[in-house]
Amino acid sequence: MTGARIRELRRDEGDLLDAVMAGLSDQSRYQRFHSPKPRLTSADRRYLTDVDGRDHVALIAFAPDGAPIAVGRWVRLKEDPATAELGVEVVDEWQGQGVGSELIARLARRAAAAGIERLLARVLDANRFKHGLKRRGWQGVERDGSSVVLAADAWAVARTAPPQPARRQVA
Ligand SMILES: CC(C)(COP(=O)(O)OP(=O)(O)OC[C@H]1O[C@@H](n2cnc3c(N)ncnc32)[C@H](O)[C@@H]1OP(=O)(O)O)[C@@H](O)C(=O)NCCC(=O)NCCS
Repeated sequence: MTGARIRELRRDEGDLLDAVMAGLSDQSRYQRFHSPKPRLTSADRRYLTDVDGRDHVALIAFAPDGAPIAVGRWVRLKEDPATAELGVEVVDEWQGQGVGSELIARLARRAAAAGIERLLARVLDANRFKHGLKRRGWQGVERDGSSVVLAADAWAVARTAPPQPARRQVA
């Protein structure tokens, strides 16, 4: 457990995405978007908040002090509805502390419950995250210029998630 609080992102929360962007270094933003991206454009913001709980789900993580520190999402592929592509970013100050892994596991659980069987992650070849995913069972399925596409079974990734807190019983 990382101490981060994770919940679903709502459609009106583009400001939270801007806050996470502001905590990413140039290199992290490049690794996430595969091109220089100093800030989100209004078109980016529109797309990234276009969540519907079925074909596009985003989760946001908060530090114990309430600051937004990471966002992860999956988007179901139109041409293959049993597959979704994943994207994750953790602000630099919080990288390497397990937040990304926790987000991915929770995204996978949500995806599996929505009927998604396979997750894809498009990662720059030079990003050491590629090795982290491979160590966790993801396999390279495609090479596309300077990036690689890795795939994993959604339920297998979901099983790495910590158990959800038990629902409080109301008498
Ligand atoms: C890649 C990223 C999401 C991982 O999240 P994280 O919370 O830092 O990672 P975790 O602590 O859960 O560790 C998971 C793996 O991520 C990788 N990782 C950790 N810190 C990293 C960093 N600063 N940069 C890149 N990869 C990193 C490692 O491979 C690690 O695996 P390991 O523990 O077996 O070595 C995060 O570092 C990040 O936002 N990087 C910039 C954007 C990006 O690369 N996104 C991925 C493309 S979708």
